[in-house]
Amino acid sequence: MDIRRLEPRDIPLIQHANLENLPENYFMKYYLYHALSWPQLSYVAVDVSRPKKTPYDYPKIVGYVLAKMEEEPADGVQHGHITSLSVMRTHRRLGIAEKLMRQSQLAMVETFGAQYVSLHVRVSNKAAIHLYTKTLGFDQEKTESKYYADGEDAHCMRLDLSAIR
Ligand code: ACO
Repeated sequence: MDIRRLEPRDIPLIQHANLENLPENYFMKYYLYHALSWPQLSYVAVDVSRPKKTPYDYPKIVGYVLAKMEEEPADGVQHGHITSLSVMRTHRRLGIAEKLMRQSQLAMVETFGAQYVSLHVRVSNKAAIHLYTKTLGFDQEKTESKYYADGEDAHCMRLDLSAIR
């Protein structure tokens, strides 16, 4: 498995993975906005074990993290935000999401001097909540009522990045 920065040519595959894995979907231009504005922060996991059948065969993307810096932080503190993270079902529980998140967090600190990273997660999403709180050490800040379009609440989470600064 290879973890590398997201490139604009990856976007159709990322959009496909997002549609497969999550109900929160975005227009192509929103992915492009991330890739062009903060190219250091978004990563893909590529399955390099799959043999190339033709020179034009494109490697299979099995996971991604789409991240950004908060442009006008309400608290005035430089911080990153995880817009979306997912790993294809066939490749889960192999540590891919953890690696994608750690790469993005490091780049937030090294490139933009981020003090912390934030995200939203559905209150029912046990797998992601385990990843964020137990594996990565995020704190649950508050719960936002009916944050999602279908009425589900979101946990707002935050990880202090001072440990890797
Ligand atoms: N139940 C319980 N714990 C789990 C589960 C699960 N289903 N899946 C992973 N974990 C735990 C692992 O055991 C591991 O814990 P450990 O460090 O204690 O050993 C930890 O989470 C990290 O596991 P990874 O292998 O790195 O996670 P994975 O690559 O499988 O991806 C993810 C996890 C991204 C949540 C995946 O299940 C997925 O794509 N789900 C659908 C999309 C999704 O929910 N994305 C997050 C939405 S929130 C947002 O985008 C900001």
